[in-house]
Amino acid sequence: MPITYNQEKKLFKLDTVTSSYILQVFEEGYLIHLYYGARIPDDNLTELRIVAFDHSAFEPNNARVKSWEFSPTISPLEYPASGTGDFRIPAFTVKAPEGNTATDLRYLTHRILKGKKPLEGIPALYVNSDDEADTLEVDLIDRLTGVVVTVSYTVFNNTGAMTRSAYVRNTGKAPVELKTVMSASVELNGADFRMIHLWGRYGKERTYTEQPLHHGIQGFESRRGSSSHEYNPFAAFAKNNASEDYGEVYGFNLVWSGSFSFEAQADSYDNTRVNVGINYKDFSWLLKPGEGFQAPEVVMVYTTEGIGEMSRIYHRLYNKNLIRGEWRDKVRPVLINSWEAAYFNFDDDKLVAFAERAKKLGIEMLVMDDGWFGHRNDDHTSLGDWYVNEKKLKGGLSSLISRVKALGLKFGIWYEPEMISEDSDLYRAHPDWCLHIKGREQSNCRNQYVLDMTRKEVRDNIFDQMYKVLSENDIDYLKWDFNRNLTEVGSEGLPPERQTEIYHRFVLGTYDLMDRITKAFPHILLENCSGGGGRYDPAMLYFSPQIWASDNTDPIERLTIQFGTSLCYPASSMGAHVSASTRASYETKGNVALWGSFGYELDPLKLSEETCDLIRRQIAEYHKYYDLIHKGDLYRIETPTENPCRCAWEFVSPDKSEMLFTFVIIRIVNNPKYMPRFKGLDPNRYYREETSGEIYSGALLMNAGYNMVNFSRPDGASYKLHFVAVD
Ligand code: GLA
Repeated sequence: MPITYNQEKKLFKLDTVTSSYILQVFEEGYLIHLYYGARIPDDNLTELRIVAFDHSAFEPNNARVKSWEFSPTISPLEYPASGTGDFRIPAFTVKAPEGNTATDLRYLTHRILKGKKPLEGIPALYVNSDDEADTLEVDLIDRLTGVVVTVSYTVFNNTGAMTRSAYVRNTGKAPVELKTVMSASVELNGADFRMIHLWGRYGKERTYTEQPLHHGIQGFESRRGSSSHEYNPFAAFAKNNASEDYGEVYGFNLVWSGSFSFEAQADSYDNTRVNVGINYKDFSWLLKPGEGFQAPEVVMVYTTEGIGEMSRIYHRLYNKNLIRGEWRDKVRPVLINSWEAAYFNFDDDKLVAFAERAKKLGIEMLVMDDGWFGHRNDDHTSLGDWYVNEKKLKGGLSSLISRVKALGLKFGIWYEPEMISEDSDLYRAHPDWCLHIKGREQSNCRNQYVLDMTRKEVRDNIFDQMYKVLSENDIDYLKWDFNRNLTEVGSEGLPPERQTEIYHRFVLGTYDLMDRITKAFPHILLENCSGGGGRYDPAMLYFSPQIWASDNTDPIERLTIQFGTSLCYPASSMGAHVSASTRASYETKGNVALWGSFGYELDPLKLSEETCDLIRRQIAEYHKYYDLIHKGDLYRIETPTENPCRCAWEFVSPDKSEMLFTFVIIRIVNNPKYMPRFKGLDPNRYYREETSGEIYSGALLMNAGYNMVNFSRPDGASYKLHFVAVD
């Protein structure tokens, strides 16, 4: 049983394949955290209760608790509140009707359930059948206000992953104000961890960084109203002696696309509290009697097999229990996107010419990017006017689509549904429909404003406009863009006391619109985008099986971006294209882009015959290696963070019968020796390298390595080696 309850000890034990997670209802109903780490067989853990053995007058205790070793200041609490003796970072704070913020949560009841329930209005991991997971819900009550928090845990069988979330209800008689509602608070044993996370900016998303924890609070956040280019809602805590292939690692990934907060506090007793959830800084939420509030969920992975295995656990889980719909399992078409080929400067004939040439190259879908609607010829106008510009697309959209389809290509289209241009019919009709504060100047970002997604009439209008185009035309793919962040966050649709809810309600509004679009058009492949990869998070993956990883398509720069992204997001999710505008050979551009959901970002009419031949080969390779890359296991062999001169990775099929190794020389150094030791093969099997025909044992390839000495070529060169088991 993955979740058990020991009635006598009042102790819950949650087991994944790799971990055990143990909590206990302690005296006076304090819910305490006993353990999260490698799987242990029993629950004989009472002595593990982390004790405040020498606590002083400065560590308050509840006078009714008999155990002298307990103190809310020191003991590990499962969902810590503030103002009642725990001075560390709180998971939960509520402002009572009387105006104070002292909060005190105690155990009320619990339930153990088969399967996993969806979260109200928020994307979350799902089960394909109830036997895939088990769920524990524990109700905690703040008796003075009557606020009940249900902390939920789902254990996914056959993986090393579990999820946590929190749902708050006001069962009291007066309204309260929620100030902090974290999705999870986890007490890690020890402070000897490195915090790993992903930082970046536009064109440099999800760059790996790590720092040793120090005593005090450290963390990162987004306050932009989206998950952002700057930080990703992901962190791993690796024991100081852990590495890519060995050692203890805890991963946390928040299923949320708005402002978020990740904080770790290494306390004075050398424990580490990790708090993950929505950003509490620009947030408060009025909760009236009878109302509820759902916090998003966090996906937690534990392994003793290093950072690489943590990533593989996330990849397998997301490919099966997060990404949804028919495109989860269908082969994604190789696309060509009009953006870098033409920007705003296209018409129907130009797009058809692209399609004709693309077809000859083996490309399977034409995507018409920004510029097809309203009178948009640059980025100053028309967002919000989602009707076809017939001056550009003479004969209309259906005529263009039939010409493209007659060539045998699929057709995709670009939208930026959450935005509005000042120069648009929509803005002229509804100037109050963007986020704004009366009397305050509006910040300008890319000449556009953000629509007030908290308002149903706004969402309905955009849905209706999109529905018309999508239902009247044979469209296979939709790129959903989001090209600025939130400023002057005010809504005319909400009263003053709810203005601090806008950041949150905005994201819920976007989810509502995405939900309606994906339900109305389940066959459309959705690709999320935000000025490249500015909204690359698990909640977006729930709606869109693939996400454009970055506007930066330079293959060398992409190595850093793709390695960082791979910490928790699977290859299947990464939009990766070959473009004309970048350095390096087309071969290397292709080898790097093959890592993800593949395509082209160039004018196909401007290619040499030699490049055309190469593209045909690349597309054949994309199909040849599709299952291996999209369904196989990723092993990072050498990362650009470790080695600025070269970089290498592998995909291994789940049955270990096949492996694709890719190697990029970033910069030649005066050392020809390179003997990578491969990973993830079966040591007892033999593998044939396809080009040379040579056969090697898995044990040799993994322990002695493979001699790459003859491969040194110019900076930016790259190679693929394909090994197939010969048994
Ligand atoms: C964003 C996207 C690009 C392109 C442009 C269009 O920057 O990342 O791929 O779609 O918008 O305006």
